[in-house]
Amino acid sequence: MVDIEVWTEKYRPQKLDDVVGQKHVVDRLKAWVKQGSIPNMLFAGQAGVGKTTIALALAKELFGDHWHENFQETNASDERGINVVRGKIKDFARTLPIGHDFKIVFLDESDALTNEAQQALRRTMEKYARVCRFILSCNYSSHVIEPIQSRCAVFRFKSLSEEDVKIYAERISKGENIKMSADSYKALYEITGGDLRTATNVLQATSAMGDVTKEKLYETVAQARPEDIKKMLETVISGDFKGGRKMLFDMLINQGLAGEDIVKGIYRQLFVIEMSEENRLRLIEKAGEYEFRLNQGGSPEIQLEALLSQFLKK
Ligand SMILES: Nc1ncnc2c1ncn2[C@@H]1O[C@H](COP(=O)(O)OP(=O)(O)O)[C@@H](O)[C@H]1O
Ligand SMILES: [Mg+2]
Repeated sequence: MVDIEVWTEKYRPQKLDDVVGQKHVVDRLKAWVKQGSIPNMLFAGQAGVGKTTIALALAKELFGDHWHENFQETNASDERGINVVRGKIKDFARTLPIGHDFKIVFLDESDALTNEAQQALRRTMEKYARVCRFILSCNYSSHVIEPIQSRCAVFRFKSLSEEDVKIYAERISKGENIKMSADSYKALYEITGGDLRTATNVLQATSAMGDVTKEKLYETVAQARPEDIKKMLETVISGDFKGGRKMLFDMLINQGLAGEDIVKGIYRQLFVIEMSEENRLRLIEKAGEYEFRLNQGGSPEIQLEALLSQFLKK
């Protein structure tokens, strides 16, 4: 079995000191780590700027070896609604922390929660305030209800600068021993707008074609926009096959992308999208199978639709 290395995990900083940029957040958190206590927090900012990374690094520094037992991560957009707050989060919050006087609930994309679920979350935050701290991450703090905001120290994450992207890309190029042309850093910034998750994925995909240049980076993203493919797959995974199929046809027909390129794009996303390892391996095999059929002259519409339907299976 091939060992799949996902660079976004491999290069995710483990310590607050290794985070790029966001100094205003990191400095404050380091001071709190020293004191051994933190308030509830709201992390607001665009995707791929370090919200999850910083929450994880904070937990590791606070709890050391016990970080796993004392830290729970939930993504509100996967498990939208009130049941996750009443079930999973509450169950975790009410059991005692281990080796420390509080535990941390990290709720990603908390602005995806319904208003009702946010109200329930607020009550949970109050009820377990003694033993549990909440770190909520969101794209827009305005989508989080006021009673939660007022219970949190709010941190606004900045989009990362061209220099930040360069620092991070250099770390990867050194770690992977890949050559990057001087103009490729700027291109990476322009393509991704300072979203380091996308930057890392684009870099990983591009480096599969050898040395990284500005041209190759643009070529990689022009093939099929990774976000579009991801969105299409996530739509199907969420059960909306029709919606996903519509996006597929948009890429094939309106954008005029080649079927082979879309399969490649799907293949790359298989290393990015969250799913069980078992399912991932099954889908990698399927992607290979459908790529072969396309090469044999199968119709892109039919073959890709069939591949897409594989994402409905869990
Ligand atoms: N400020 C940062 N410093 C270092 N790496 C970062 C930073 N922001 C994002 N990354 C990288 O990008 C990827 C996604 O980061 P993440 O923290 O999950 O973003 P989000 O803000 O969407 O939660 C990770 O691989 C992480 O290593
Ligand atoms: Mg995140």
